[in-house]
Amino acid sequence: MKVIIAEDYDELSKIAAQLIKEELDVKPALNLGLATGGTPLGTYKELIRLNKEGEIDFSQVKTFNLDEYVGLDSKHPSSYSYYMESILFRHINIKEENTHIPKGNTKNLEEECKAYDSYIERAGGIDLQILGIGSNGHIAFNEPADQQSLGTTIVNLTPSTIKDNSRFFERIEEVPTSAISMGIGSILKARKLLLLISGKSKREITKRLLELDYVTGQLPASFLLLHQDLTLIVDRDALGEN
Ligand code: GLP
Repeated sequence: MKVIIAEDYDELSKIAAQLIKEELDVKPALNLGLATGGTPLGTYKELIRLNKEGEIDFSQVKTFNLDEYVGLDSKHPSSYSYYMESILFRHINIKEENTHIPKGNTKNLEEECKAYDSYIERAGGIDLQILGIGSNGHIAFNEPADQQSLGTTIVNLTPSTIKDNSRFFERIEEVPTSAISMGIGSILKARKLLLLISGKSKREITKRLLELDYVTGQLPASFLLLHQDLTLIVDRDALGEN
């Protein structure tokens, strides 16, 4: 794992966007894996700036999101579809048909899981996957558990994730209790992984991750350490140096 230490969130976001730009420069038809949550917001802002200034072009890019809540329509303001559209897609020159997010409101969720994995595969796989981390060590929505899924799967959210994510909903009761998520195996298939960790609330999990010398389903992020091309960008708040 390559570790880049950023002074603060702003620097972390700029470094992440720069690394994405470098990949786009080499491969304009990049298959880019995207994450949601608070952490990538600054990176997306920076990508929008670079796109508006003509430094990067999304016209040939395909995007694949990690996860979506079960039961939320794509128009629901707390859905990840809505997040991606309002935070990033509508501000850049990406083609709508090139953006992919697992459907959380379809009748046949198991079919959707299989279809999502095979769609990514047929597109040639993900070149660069952006990742955040849950305070309990989850990656996408793969929650701590003995078994971790190879492919896209339906997961039950833990009370701690429901609590963490309730800030994106009006009331905690509105947070869905399950989600459709790329599996740890699907994530490890990406050619490059870029893990972003920022903020004091991530101190404990950052410390646990950096001190690990084994992998365990109880800390899903530990599987990322098996990847040959993992870059971690972490800010000083998350490292506990501020
Ligand atoms: C959610 C998402 C994850 C994300 C995590 C951390 O649960 N499913 O993909 O990494 O939250 O979010 P934040 O960046 O807001 O801390």
